[in-house]
Amino acid sequence: MLSRRRLLVTSVLAAGAGAVPTALAAEKKQPGGAEEARDWGAVRRQFDLDPRYIHAGLFFLSSHPRPVREAIERYRRQLEANPLHTVEHLAFSDPVNNITTRVCNAIATYIGGSGDDIALTQNTTTGLGVIYQGLPLKPGDEVLTTAHDHFVHHEAIRLATERAGATWRKVPLFDTYDSISADQLVERLQQAIGSQTRVLGVTWVHSSSGLKLPLRRISQALAVVNRERAPERRVLLVVDGVHGLGVEEPDIVAMGVDAFSAGTHKWMFGPRGTGFVWARPEVWSVMRPLMPSTSSAELFYAWAGGRPPQGPARANWFSPGGFQAFEHHWAIPEAFEFHQAIGPQRITERIHALNTRMREGLANMSHVTLYTPRAAELASGMVCFDVRGMTQQQVVQRLFERHGILGTTTPYALSFARVSFGIQNTPEEVEKTLAAIREMV
Ligand SMILES: Cc1ncc(COP(=O)(O)O)c(C=O)c1O
Repeated sequence: MLSRRRLLVTSVLAAGAGAVPTALAAEKKQPGGAEEARDWGAVRRQFDLDPRYIHAGLFFLSSHPRPVREAIERYRRQLEANPLHTVEHLAFSDPVNNITTRVCNAIATYIGGSGDDIALTQNTTTGLGVIYQGLPLKPGDEVLTTAHDHFVHHEAIRLATERAGATWRKVPLFDTYDSISADQLVERLQQAIGSQTRVLGVTWVHSSSGLKLPLRRISQALAVVNRERAPERRVLLVVDGVHGLGVEEPDIVAMGVDAFSAGTHKWMFGPRGTGFVWARPEVWSVMRPLMPSTSSAELFYAWAGGRPPQGPARANWFSPGGFQAFEHHWAIPEAFEFHQAIGPQRITERIHALNTRMREGLANMSHVTLYTPRAAELASGMVCFDVRGMTQQQVVQRLFERHGILGTTTPYALSFARVSFGIQNTPEEVEKTLAAIREMV
């Protein structure tokens, strides 16, 4: 939002007048903690996690690593000292150099594509609302999704289709957990697409079972369907990517999806209450914003000039506007830099190694039913299971009370016990968790 007053303040600041508090100049970066993280023990020490526990559910909500904590604290101190100038200078200075642009560019450096195609949100949920409410759905259109997605994804679809007079439908991707195959689930999605289907909404990594979908294959299958369709009848691929981001390969844009929503406050270790939507510019251009944005100069000048906004809609029209928990939003780059410094491929390999060991260990226990596929191509950072004779709550409670292991239950109609190992965890913690479950026989 470029108000006249702000432009005035901005130009004073840009002139480098002595009036600029020194704190404002301090957008200086501390050396990233990840640079010191040459081993996994050092990575773990970047987090202030309570050492009494085995944290086997850190995807739930991020504990901030040191560089992210320090960035939040640095911005917080600036805001405490001078909220007006800090916001004017950092958020509302010229659009090319302001901090919002820097944040979007930091995300784009990791996921591929351009920062111009990123809208900033508060979490995955807000992003899904931005996408589904923004799509030009009309009566007769259908949104196709699966039976396995999170409550907020289905709610975003339900609310948007209800408002538009469109319909939605859920398709199961498998019949039994021990029969899941990539071929079958791609085929089922392809076959479920009808002539009215305009959107296919899927989840990259299911928090219901730990299943990871082969997104590239799904987007390729959709490309075949779309080849026969006129542009306005294309089926768009919308992805809830929150449990893949920060775990799986980072170049998300290259996977061929149309719109992608994720919170940065889970596996990415970004500031709590932050997230983003990436969409192809052609998709943003046909969408309609759900709520006012204060990230776009064009929207403000159109309003001030009493004219409609010009040109096709673009990502920054869609970032929910107004003042935010700025110190959190501004500290997003440090989270992405933390991952880059460690190396996304190393992170993927580590998380897969830990969780594969967990799956293999559980698969060998006759009193345990494993729901997450054993095949690495269909699994990621979560492992879902049941112990015979115990409810999932009893399993999680016993893990905590007897062993200090913090697992979770899955928040779905059919619920399982779930553990998850990230880069803060160790192979020893996996073995201890397996031993604790082994003795539940
Ligand atoms: C698959 C999935 N999607 C969305 C969400 C909601 O995420 P957020 O809190 O970032 O909105 C969750 C929560 O863990 C989830 O498991």
